This record gives sequence, structure tokens and C-alpha cells, in this order.
Amino acid sequence: MSKLNILRIDASMRVKGSTGRQLSDQLIDRLGQGQQLKVVNRDLSQGISFISDAWIEANFTDKAERSPQQQGVLAQSDALVGEVRDADVLVLAVPIYNFGVPAAFKAWVDQIARARETFRFTERGPEGLLTGKKAYVIVTSGGTPMFSDIDFASGFVRHVLGFIGITDVTFIGADKQLMDAEALAKAEAQIAAIAA
Ligand SMILES: Cc1cc2nc3c(=O)[nH]c(=O)nc-3n(C[C@H](O)[C@H](O)[C@H](O)COP(=O)(O)O)c2cc1C
Repeated sequence: MSKLNILRIDASMRVKGSTGRQLSDQLIDRLGQGQQLKVVNRDLSQGISFISDAWIEANFTDKAERSPQQQGVLAQSDALVGEVRDADVLVLAVPIYNFGVPAAFKAWVDQIARARETFRFTERGPEGLLTGKKAYVIVTSGGTPMFSDIDFASGFVRHVLGFIGITDVTFIGADKQLMDAEALAKAEAQIAAIAA
């Protein structure tokens, strides 16, 4: 049996008690019913670098011309891009922090959105290079309704995934948890209904 390669990205800075992590566990269990999985975990609460002056210069230098130092500057980014490239399915759990994505998630996006690696510019505009993948995005929030005018996270995640070529995206909302006692149960029901 062939294995489904999953990249799990946790963007909650809470390690214990994170509802996004709990729902990711359930979703991955669901996806594993009837097939073998290989799961790569990228837990952004464990730290991620911001891009820098040296990073930008190295990224704009042709691959063949990069110095060993420049290759070192891009090493984490290369690894993160490789994780996305190797995945068949991405499972992202992204909480809304201050109406947007957590800073660590934005740092991850800055590390993986790379011209010539994950997108390229054509005469028709930008083209994503990581096609043929599926993504599930679990959005958690206390009170901000998902996809509302004050949710600057969900639309951003959808756009960024599309920008790198991932257009088959399913959102699972566990939003408004402080206002809706059923918020988690609704997300769990949506996960249970996903065909594995
Ligand atoms: C720093 C911080 C900022 C937050 N900002 C918002 C917000 O703007 N809107 C909202 O609805 N909830 C906000 N919350 C609540 C979280 O979105 C909510 O607790 C969510 O469940 C976190 O995901 P988790 O359970 O996976 O940790 C914030 C939480 C933290 C820690």
C-alpha cells in the first residue's frame, strides 16, 4: 500500500490545550483510516527564523553562484520548502491572533514563498509551482468569525496557498469558541464527515 505523505503545521503557540492541535490529531486519524500515512510535523511554536537582509540577498543570488555562507542562510528555508514539496496533503492549524495569523506562521510563509522554488512570474502573472496537493486548514478563534471582514487570517492563508499552487483547500472552522459552545463539536463533525 502506498503511503500518503502528510505535512502537519501547528501554528498555535499553545502546546497544551490547543484546540487546533486537538482537531489536527483527529483529522490525521481520520485521513489514516484505510491508508498508511507518513506524517512530518512542523511545530512553529518550536521556533522559526525571520528572513533577513542576508536571506534576501542569498535568495536573489542564482543557486549555482551561492557561497557556502549563503547556502547556510537559506538552509532552514530549503528544508521548509522541501517539506511542502514532499507532501501530498497539508494539515494546517492556524489560530486567529489579533485578527491575523500568528507571527510565526507569517515567518513560515516568508520562508517558503520563494521565486523559482515555489512560484514563478510569467507573462500572465505569478504561477504556483507546488501543484497537485490538497490542504486542510483548521481555523480557531475566540470571537472573530471565520471569513468575516475582521478575519485577516483565513483569506490570507487561502491566498498564500494558492500563490504557491495549492488550490484544493478545505477550511474547517472552530471559530468563535468563546461565543458558541458548539464550535468544537461542529468542527469535529466536519472532520468525521471527511472521506478518508
Ligand atoms: C495572542 C493572542 C491573540 C488572539 N487574538 C484573537 C483575535 O484577534 N480574535 C479571536 O477571535 N481570538 C483571538 N485569540 C484567541 C485564539 O484565537 C483562540 O484561543 C484559539 O482557540 C487559539 O487556538 P488554539 O486553541 O489552537 O491555541 C487570541 C489568542 C492569543 C493567544
